[in-house]
This record gives sequence, structure tokens and C-alpha cells, in this order.
Amino acid sequence: MDACKRPGNLKRFLAYLKPYRGWLILSTVVGVVKYNLPVVFPWILKDVIDILVTSSPSNPRWSFDQLMGVAVLVFAAYALITSLRTHLADRLALRMTFDIRKDLFQHIQKLPLDFYHARQTGAISSRLISDVSQAQNFFGLAGTNFFMDFTSLLTISCVVFYLNWKLAVLTYSTLPIYLFLQRRLSRRMRLTSREARRRMEILEGGIHESIAGISEIKSFTHEREQSRRFADRCWSFLQTAFENVRTHSISLGTTALLTKVPAVLVIWIGGHFVLQGQLTVGALMAFYAYLEMIYNPLTRLSELNIQLANSRAAIDRLFEFFDLGTEAGSDGQGPQLLVRAGGIRYQGVVFGYLPGQPALKGINVEIEPGRRVALVGASGAGKSTLVNLLVRFHDPWEGAITIDGQDIREVNLRSLRSQVAFVQQDPVLFSGSVEDNIRVGKVDADREEIVRAAELANALEFIRELPDGFQTEIGERGVKLSGGQKQRIAIARAFLKEAPILVLDESTSSLDLPSEKLVHEALNRLARGRTTIIIAHRLSTVAGADWIFVLESGCLAQQGTHEALIRATEGPYWKLCFEQMQAFAIPAAGENTHSISVPYGRHSLVPERVASKNMTYNATSPSSPSCG
Ligand SMILES: Nc1ncnc2c1ncn2[C@@H]1O[C@H](COP(=O)(O)OP(=O)(O)O)[C@@H](O)[C@H]1O
Ligand SMILES: [Mg+2]
Repeated sequence: MDACKRPGNLKRFLAYLKPYRGWLILSTVVGVVKYNLPVVFPWILKDVIDILVTSSPSNPRWSFDQLMGVAVLVFAAYALITSLRTHLADRLALRMTFDIRKDLFQHIQKLPLDFYHARQTGAISSRLISDVSQAQNFFGLAGTNFFMDFTSLLTISCVVFYLNWKLAVLTYSTLPIYLFLQRRLSRRMRLTSREARRRMEILEGGIHESIAGISEIKSFTHEREQSRRFADRCWSFLQTAFENVRTHSISLGTTALLTKVPAVLVIWIGGHFVLQGQLTVGALMAFYAYLEMIYNPLTRLSELNIQLANSRAAIDRLFEFFDLGTEAGSDGQGPQLLVRAGGIRYQGVVFGYLPGQPALKGINVEIEPGRRVALVGASGAGKSTLVNLLVRFHDPWEGAITIDGQDIREVNLRSLRSQVAFVQQDPVLFSGSVEDNIRVGKVDADREEIVRAAELANALEFIRELPDGFQTEIGERGVKLSGGQKQRIAIARAFLKEAPILVLDESTSSLDLPSEKLVHEALNRLARGRTTIIIAHRLSTVAGADWIFVLESGCLAQQGTHEALIRATEGPYWKLCFEQMQAFAIPAAGENTHSISVPYGRHSLVPERVASKNMTYNATSPSSPSCG
């Protein structure tokens, strides 16, 4: 399979040259001139030496000075052409790289989340950066030089046979062995080079991870372990690199052996020809010069084999990514999703990340239009998974999800995602200004809309206090914002998006109380008039929902209003509330019973009957639920 894939990849790669055909032809023509021009020089040398040695020129039409003048002109032209050729070829290669990188990035963005979960960030960026550059070599150095070298080789061969065919035959007799060996070696080079690239990818992935997690590493004083792991990976890379070096050195050695020895033989035998008067000294010198010129392109061609091998491996790796299927529908198939009311329905949804291990085990959920519902459950119960399915980060194994009766798998993916505003627990801010970051919600938003969104998100005040207001640089390289501030920027994005469906995945869980209050206000404002799914831990947030779904180990364990659920003593929801209040309870000295103290909340969380019950802490885990 691998073997039949490769030629196709090369063809696809070369297709990137199509838009630049004109440049390619020009650069090739200039290249051919560049490589053939120096062939004139030994021919001049032949006459020059014969004039100097015998003072009876073999070609009486040209004087010594005239010949040297021509030589100077030839090399001046050569200099000019060389510069032009490099300019043309490199520009072309860079342009092509740009196109490939752009396409690859675009493609990668359309790949499903599973692709990202299965790979390290650094490993993905390694393909975009290193592999694309390596692939570029194929063209920049190897691909076209091959053609130039080939034509100059052809010209020189003709000249050499014309000068003395016996010497020429001698010279070329070692060529088949040389070419045979090179072919074998290049195959091996390609294999080791692919392996080297694979290990480099692992190395780069590791570097990225350590940089991203540096504070974690420091706080756990894990530096030594990290360094050891890095060294191991470097070592593993080094092994293949050594293997590469070995093949490379063998390749260079055989090239030297098979090129230099015949050259000496030519002088040896040619010298006898000169002594016998069959050949002039000038012609022998010219022959020797031509030999150098034959072997230079040949040596380059052998080097080129290596470069080709490396580049071909990189090209294969690029197209491996190109061949991964994008998210279905992301290219605009399917009708637009029409959200009229915003009713959401999960019907028998089963989904898991790993085969045979469902994270959701047959979920039936009906969310009425415009309602605010809460999803609660222990960590790992499947809450995030449930809402991720709504925007098709993944597709269910079984069952279906509909919005206003339309199966989300059958509508245009972009239209689906544009109608759901998703505020996550730890929103990501991109490098750029505050304004740019809010504009993520709507790319063509004007300044006024952005300020309005910030205001609704309770973010205006803190943004105004930033050094450059809305123009302040944030993200990785700019001002660091607090969790609550980031969250409010994310909410401003959601305001701009004006989507009829809103999903809040633990949007306030990691915040301190004062910022939570601000975020809360903003979220309440945002939820108005939209179908809203809130995932939250805090009872105050949950209790305000119109309807609550309780998840336990991927199953829907309970649903209802807060008032109804809390009455089901010892039920899943009751237990969640109880555990949470337990955490806030102030233990009375010498007793194992707790008085309940709820620090905040607009709702009466616990009805009288329950609160007055003697709530002793019960450490036994709830009985395992089963769906249906
Ligand atoms: N990307 C993933 N790959 C594999 N398993 C995952 C992934 N994301 C979540 N899970 C697993 O799926 C289950 C549900 O996770 P999640 O929906 O994130 O729970 P919650 O949001 O309720 O805390 C957990 O057992 C978790 O380990
Ligand atoms: Mg979660």
C-alpha cells in the first residue's frame, strides 16, 4: 500500500507548481544556461595550453589574449546567470511552500477533535513547519537541479567523446556500478530518514508539552525527570541520525572511489597517448577538467538522492495528513440549520471515546425551547461529553440529536456551530488585542457592537482600566488576565455571536466569589431568551434552572425541578446537594453531626424537612446506576 501511495503523493506535490509554470520554465532555462556555460572553459583551456606548450596553436584563428578575454566574459556571464537562477528558483520554492503550508493548515483545522486528542501539539506543528520545509528541498535543491545536472552531463559527454572516445569509454565504464550502488543506498536513506523524522516529531511534541506545562513541572520539581525524558528522546533520534550518517558516509565514500580513481587512470593512460603523439597536452588537460565536470554533477546527483529521499519522506508525511478525512459537512454540504424555537432532543444517545467503553449509555433528554436547564453530576459523569455532541465535536455511536426537529448530522456543520454559543470552563484567549479576542464571536462586528458586548458581559469596566483599553495586547505574549476577566471576554464573544442556543460548561466553576458574581450576572443576561444548557457545580447556579438533569456514569439518573428533586431524599440530586453542603458545614465540637451552613444562594436549597434531618456524613458511595 505504501509503495503505491508514494508516486501519487509526488504528483500531488508537484501539482502545487502549476500556478507558477511560467516561473518554472524561466528558471529552468536560466538553469540550463548556468550549468552548460562552464563547459566552454576547458575547451578554451585546451587551446591556451597548446599555445603555451608548443607555441603552435591548434586553432590559429584565436590568439592567446583573445581566448583569455572570452574566458573572462564567459565567467562574468556565469556569475550573472547564477545569481538570477538562485533568485528565480528560491522564490518559486518559497511560494510553493507557502501554498502548501496554507492548505495544510486549512485542512488540519477541519479535522475532527479526535485527530487533536490523538496527537501532541508539537507533533502536529512539526509537520507544518519542518516537514513542509523538508518537502520544499525536493523542489528547491533537488528536483530542478536534477534536470540542470542532467543536461550539462549530456553536453560534457558529447564533448568528451569528441575529444577522445577511448578515454571517454574508460571514464564511463565505472558509471553503471556507481549508479547501481547509489540507488541501493538511497532506498536505505529514505527509510532511515523517515524514521528520523518520526522520532523528531516525538521530540518536538515533548518540547511543546514541557514548555506548556513548565509551571506544573517546576511546582512538582519534575525537571530532572523531564530532562531525562528529553535526553531519551534525543538519544532515540540520534540513533536513526547515526544510521543516516552511516549510509551517507558510505555513499560519499563510494562516490569518491568511483570518481577519483578513474580520473587518475585517465591521466595515466592519456599520458601514454600524449607520449605516442595521439593527443595534445592541451586536450589531455581539457579532458581532465571535463572529468571533474562530469563527476561534480554525478556527486551532486548522489547527494540529490539523499535529499530526494528525505524530501520524499516529508512529502509522504504531509499527504498523510491531507488524506485524513475532515469533519463531515464542514465543507458546506447539507441544508442550513434553521433554529426557530431552539428545542433540543437527545434520543437514545450512546457515545464513547474508546471502543467498548461508552461514556454516554443511552441518553434521552428533551429540552424545551427557551428553557434554562442544568446538567449536574460527579466529575467524569459525561456532562461535557453530552454538550460536546451538540456541536458535533463527536458523533454519537447510536441515537440522534435534533434541534427543532432537525437531525444535527444532516445539517450544514457551520450553520450548526454558528447557532450554538459555547462558553467553556477555561476559555482560550488568542494573541492579539482585547478587541480582536471579542471579535472572535463575530468577525465583522464593528466597534460599537464590541463595546456593547463587553458592557453586557460586565467586562467594560476592567477593559477600560487596561493600559490600552480595547487595544491592549492579551494572550500568550501580552497582558495576563484573571480567570474571571477571561471568562467575561468569552461571554462578550457569546453576546456578539447572538446564537439562539447557549451552552455553559462549568463557566464559573474556577472563579472566586466576587468575580463569579460579575460573571453570573453577565451569564444570566446572556441566557435571557435563549435555550440554555448550564453545567455547574454550585448549587446556587443549578437551583435557578428551569429543569435539572442529573447524570451518573453516563446515564440520566434523575430529572426535574430543583424543588422536586431535592424532595427525593437519598436520590442522586439530593446526595449531590448534601455532599456539597457537607463541604461547607461547620463541624460542631465533639459531635459527628453537622449544622448546615450555606454561604450563599438566592434559593432555599434544602426544604425544611430535609434540613432538619440529622445529616451525618455518610462516606459510602451511591449505588451504581443503570440506564433505562
Ligand atoms: N478526549 C477524551 N478521550 C477519552 N476519554 C475521554 C475524553 N474526554 C472525556 N473522556 C472520558 O469520558 C468520561 C466523561 O467525561 P466528561 O464528559 O468530560 O465528564 P464531565 O464533564 O461530567 O466531568 C470520563 O470517563 C472521561 O474520562
Ligand atoms: Mg466537564
